[in-house]
Amino acid sequence: MKIGVFDSGYGGLTILENIRQRLPQYDYIYLGDNARTPYGTRSFEVIYDYTLQCIKQLFAFNCQLIVVACNTASARALRTIQQQDLPRLAPDRRVLGVIRPTAEQTGKLTVSRVAGLCATDGTVQSGTYPVEIAKLFPDITVVSEACPMWVPLIENNEHIHDGADYFVRRHIHRLFERDPRIDTLILGCTHYPLLLDKIVRYVPENVHIIVQGNLVAESLAEYLVRHPEQEIRCSKGGTVVYYTTESTEKFNASASVFLKQPIVAEHITIN
Ligand code: DGL
Repeated sequence: MKIGVFDSGYGGLTILENIRQRLPQYDYIYLGDNARTPYGTRSFEVIYDYTLQCIKQLFAFNCQLIVVACNTASARALRTIQQQDLPRLAPDRRVLGVIRPTAEQTGKLTVSRVAGLCATDGTVQSGTYPVEIAKLFPDITVVSEACPMWVPLIENNEHIHDGADYFVRRHIHRLFERDPRIDTLILGCTHYPLLLDKIVRYVPENVHIIVQGNLVAESLAEYLVRHPEQEIRCSKGGTVVYYTTESTEKFNASASVFLKQPIVAEHITIN
């Protein structure tokens, strides 16, 4: 049985990389729904349908555990899938998200108890981050900013150019204008680590920036220790297979930008 990592596109590759560095022994399957990305601008119903289809596919690929690396899918679909679909589809398997570990980290870092969130429209509109953070730390205020241009800039490889600074500065300034007490900034989208060089330029000094890769990897490692009944079922061959719903040529070229190493994916049709 494998560990599945799912994202709407390329962004989850950054999470998978961190997971593989922390837990190299397991066998992984990555599924990028690149043909239907972006999820961030879609309705709840569509994001839920797409996410469920991808999870079913990963189950069909023999995944014991699935990490939904996509924040938008975690925010809009994960809870329903965990509570309604999983007991029916595969009660002995597990689907984990990225929001809970990020919420835990936020609580550890913020001193002012005001956190900023940069994310897609879908994630911000869902209100899932403030809700999940409030469950653990009711004293924390979350100030959110949707950054709808950031994913397209990255998907088109424009994030490395000067023009991208305009959009980064604009959203960061808006967020901190709204509440200058923010001392912790959540990058609540798998793509955003690729903009980190620019983001740090505009974020006030001494603000903690939460990048999810490492903390999701750490949280998965802790989960496997706490759940030996899941861990024992995960095969340990150190392999990874990449699947994309887009053409493999397109995926391989862009994925190599994300991972800075050659990637060879296989095509899968999902519906
Ligand atoms: N992967 C998505 C996320 O983390 C961003 C890309 C999209 O909009 O599909 O929110």
